[in-house]
Amino acid sequence: MSKITIAIDGPASSGKSTVAKIIAKKLNLIYLDTGAMYRAVTFLALKHHLESPSAILTLLQEQPISFQNTADGQLVFLGNQDVTLVIRENEVTKAVSKFAAMKAIREALVDLQRRYANQGGVIMDGRDIGTVVLPQADLKIFLVASVDERAKRRYQENIEKGISTDFETLKQEIAKRDQLDSTRVESPLKQAEDAILLDTTGLDIESVVNQIEKLANEINL
Ligand code: DC
Repeated sequence: MSKITIAIDGPASSGKSTVAKIIAKKLNLIYLDTGAMYRAVTFLALKHHLESPSAILTLLQEQPISFQNTADGQLVFLGNQDVTLVIRENEVTKAVSKFAAMKAIREALVDLQRRYANQGGVIMDGRDIGTVVLPQADLKIFLVASVDERAKRRYQENIEKGISTDFETLKQEIAKRDQLDSTRVESPLKQAEDAILLDTTGLDIESVVNQIEKLANEINL
């Protein structure tokens, strides 16, 4: 197994997780979806009507976040509850930026993320992986795409899942989340100085994967 560490950051729906999962398989790396962690915390907070970071973190100790890899993909757990699907619901999506901006929440999750990365051989996607979580990552990618393109992808995904959404609302929600994630005080979404910018507007997944795979293969560890 390769010991490379790869950080993939970028705005909402830029294709980070789709691409990261495929590369993890191809290069035999552990994949960590850090957005799923912030979503799990948000789900927990909403479920228990909690606003205070310390109360949320206390509960999180009793119901820790974990991942389970299956043939059908990665499952996300809070304690022993499978929250894989529920953390993708709109209620969580709309609230997640608020909880992800809380310093104490970020510190706890970054700590957990670094522990996952300790052994190397990992690909993580998020907003602050290259800047804060793994500043020493061997390869840093910053994936972007136009808001229009990202909304179209999300719209298509929703149709495939049987969820009906209004395209303009989707576009506004994506733009709003980008704005909240990029302007927060704690670890805002931003490109690391040594990250490679890939604009995926108009590109298919395969060509994005190929570009990143080529870059990873050029790194000798
Ligand atoms: O990648 P995603 O859309 O599932 O992420 C959900 C939210 O979590 C996103 O709006 C910003 C936040 N997030 C973050 O602040 N830092 C990360 N490393 C990953 C996600």
